[in-house]
Amino acid sequence: MCGIIGYIGQQQAVPILIGGLKKLEYRGYDSSGIGIINGKIIVRKTNGKIQNLQDLIQTHPVPSSTIGISHTRWATHGAPNKINAHPHSDNTGKITLVHNGIIENYEILKKELQSKGHKFESETDTEVIVHLISEYYKNDLLDAVRKAIKKLKGAFALGVICADHPELLVTARIGSPLIIGIGKNENFIASDVPAILEHTRKIIYLKDGELACLYKDKVDIFTFEGKSVKPKIDEVTFSIEAVQKQGFDHFMLKEVHEQPDVLQKMIGFRLKKGEVVLEGLNLTEKQLQSIKNITIVACGTAYHAGMVGKYIIEHLSGRPVNIDVSSEFRYRDPIVDKHTLLLAISQSGETADTLAAVREAKNKGAKVVSVCNVIGSSLARESDGVLYTHAGPEIGVASTKAYTAQVMMLYLFAIKLASIYKKVSEKELKAIISKLKQIPQAYKQILDHKENIATMAKANSHFGCFLFLGRNINYPTALEGALKLKEISYIPAEGYAAGEMKHGPIALIDEYRAVVCVAVQSETYDKMVSNIQEIRSRKGKVIAVATEGDQTIQDHAEHVVFVPKTHPLLTPLLAVIPLQLIAYYISVQRGCDVDQPRNLAKSVTVE
Ligand code: G6P
Repeated sequence: MCGIIGYIGQQQAVPILIGGLKKLEYRGYDSSGIGIINGKIIVRKTNGKIQNLQDLIQTHPVPSSTIGISHTRWATHGAPNKINAHPHSDNTGKITLVHNGIIENYEILKKELQSKGHKFESETDTEVIVHLISEYYKNDLLDAVRKAIKKLKGAFALGVICADHPELLVTARIGSPLIIGIGKNENFIASDVPAILEHTRKIIYLKDGELACLYKDKVDIFTFEGKSVKPKIDEVTFSIEAVQKQGFDHFMLKEVHEQPDVLQKMIGFRLKKGEVVLEGLNLTEKQLQSIKNITIVACGTAYHAGMVGKYIIEHLSGRPVNIDVSSEFRYRDPIVDKHTLLLAISQSGETADTLAAVREAKNKGAKVVSVCNVIGSSLARESDGVLYTHAGPEIGVASTKAYTAQVMMLYLFAIKLASIYKKVSEKELKAIISKLKQIPQAYKQILDHKENIATMAKANSHFGCFLFLGRNINYPTALEGALKLKEISYIPAEGYAAGEMKHGPIALIDEYRAVVCVAVQSETYDKMVSNIQEIRSRKGKVIAVATEGDQTIQDHAEHVVFVPKTHPLLTPLLAVIPLQLIAYYISVQRGCDVDQPRNLAKSVTVE
């Protein structure tokens, strides 16, 4: 949650900070602020989106400065308002900081500091950090930061500046992401690469327990204990275009359209001569043989990908698969041991609950493999093996291409296990692989008809409640369709296993409900059609997602969106595309903020 960017160099800091914040807005957008040094600390902050901050700086300009920090917030402690916005300053007004993360022991610290005379302005946990630094500050900023962070419990990535030291920006992290960008006579800190990509491609991924001093011409990194660390500089390979809309109205729509390419690349990279190559898995065939069960943990959309994974892996490998949302897994004393493989799925690799679940499983002896999109993320670093989806940066808060890439990775993983455990015949495996290769082309065919989906979605955008039904391997597809719609259109939407309809949701059905039914080819197709009839006889409006060539479905539904025929096991990859588009077009029609829906953030780094 929250995005931070800091700059030190020779250029004017403010435009760089504002430009960077706009790239980080997906991480939170309820308030924002900047702090710079020009003789003294000068702060501007306001509620709302970055545009509000930009407008504020227009009407209340700041003097020139070549050092500054800034922040876009997703509120945890304290309402989203100007006072709680970052940066937060100490009582001398000399020190100011931005923070991403959560300080768990802030209440005790606050009381201690108040008893020493510190006056607090905000309701945030963050403010204690700057008062602590102030308490320890004896003209050595690094020393004060080091002493202060030793007192903190929780997660943080910090950017700190002090009016006495206009040549220095101090940063530190534990549990929240932070990168350092290395430029020519300028250096940067940021929560994520897109914020600084137009200035540099040379990145240091600061590790947990490290802090750094940035000067305009050098960066010194230390452990919290004070040991000097030799930095490893990585070169970012993705293009600036990857983080721009490229003519699309929204990032979400652009990312929906990127899916054929993302999957094509994954197939090219991971399928060699009909064999799955899982570089990064880091487990020998012998270790894979010794796995007795698999547990999947994930949150949100990634959890739905994991649910599809359970069906596929169990079907192809014969090993039992448990799945849990990460926040539940860690608190229920899960049965996991050295024979368990824990699969952690996360686009960002920074979701706090998923990281905590991984640590819990590791403590119990499980091997951990993550399916992750963001290179060098905390999850990737903490896993024994990592299967990168390489979907490129996903900016839209509603996940689309990351989801299909996760599902694709789970197919590849399951095929790998199948080839080792020999649960299914070689012939069946070959048939699946051959159909898998056709998926990117099938995506293009669906996207070619997106205007029809747009028209139909807009015509149904007035419904005040949606149900999404699916069966078997497309039950998770229904859940994902409902999540997409509620996230970006705010319409109440429920995903259900169609067989459960009679046990409750059917009470909701009347002429004011729209029901999206995933009725693609499968052994449960007839049962799905019966469910559709039950809905129609109660006047519900049915939108069906069906397989091309289905001659009868039109008799049962108000609207049908067809997807190309594929292997039944692969249908979730195709059926979800119309659901992403339905959610998108309904949201556009209702005038919602598609890329930055209210109350949400792309990456949830707090529990
Ligand atoms: C947030 C996002 C979702 C995402 C979930 C898990 O809720 O809004 O889109 O699916 O976090 O994120 P992760 O990065 O772990 O996949």
